[in-house]
Amino acid sequence: MSKRQYLVAGNWKMNGSTASNRSLVEGIVAGAGDCPKVEILVCPPSVYLCPVAALLGGGVRLGAQNLADQDKPGAYTGEIHGTMLREAGCDYVLVGHSERRALYGESDAVVAAKFGVAQALDLVPVLCLGETLAERDAEQTEAVLARQLDAVLDRSGVHAFARAVIAYEPVWAIGTGRTASTAQAQEAHAFIRGRLAALDATIAGSVRILYGGSVKPDNARELFAGVDVDGGLIGGASLKSQDFMAICAAAQAQ
Ligand code: PGA
Repeated sequence: MSKRQYLVAGNWKMNGSTASNRSLVEGIVAGAGDCPKVEILVCPPSVYLCPVAALLGGGVRLGAQNLADQDKPGAYTGEIHGTMLREAGCDYVLVGHSERRALYGESDAVVAAKFGVAQALDLVPVLCLGETLAERDAEQTEAVLARQLDAVLDRSGVHAFARAVIAYEPVWAIGTGRTASTAQAQEAHAFIRGRLAALDATIAGSVRILYGGSVKPDNARELFAGVDVDGGLIGGASLKSQDFMAICAAAQAQ
């Protein structure tokens, strides 16, 4: 079986400005043609979704970093409904990023609800999973990944993963300059895929599992080589078009 299409996603987090977004997007769009094998996604802060959408081209896709866990729009001050993200041009939305879980108190149940709402509104959720350093040291990595995955499986079922992406992001590797080794990433990815395969082998074989956590131009090629690694969710290095495109080129070269 040929490998799944690589996806390289830039999570800009709470960074950017009108001026810096423009030059970043121009650099990405200009380079996208050199990576025809790779699906490229950018996830700017919500307030920039519409202006960034207007700058996109070359097949580069748009995603949001978060969405409301509500089925319907209404009186939820400060929240953004998935229909609004669709209207802004989003195809994807990150769900359950570790910063949302740790800093904004998103429980497994909230993450599972957001995943369900995203799918119901025709957004492809990018479900982020990952263990902390303490959990890894306590050999709890698989238990944590299983718990985070099962919360979504219990609510949405395995068939939901026919239209979803998973991002394995060890919390200890996010923004720290410390990455999982190729073997550690592959091992976690294989565990996640295996858990899905126990329920549906076809869906498990087709779902893309991204690695995230200090992916840089100089380590991307090695990280992406794992048989169950289908690309990356990139934070810091997605803010410079040269670095981000070098990571896309690493996926293209696999
Ligand atoms: P990083 O962030 O690449 O800066 O480590 C990854 C992420 O949080 O998605």
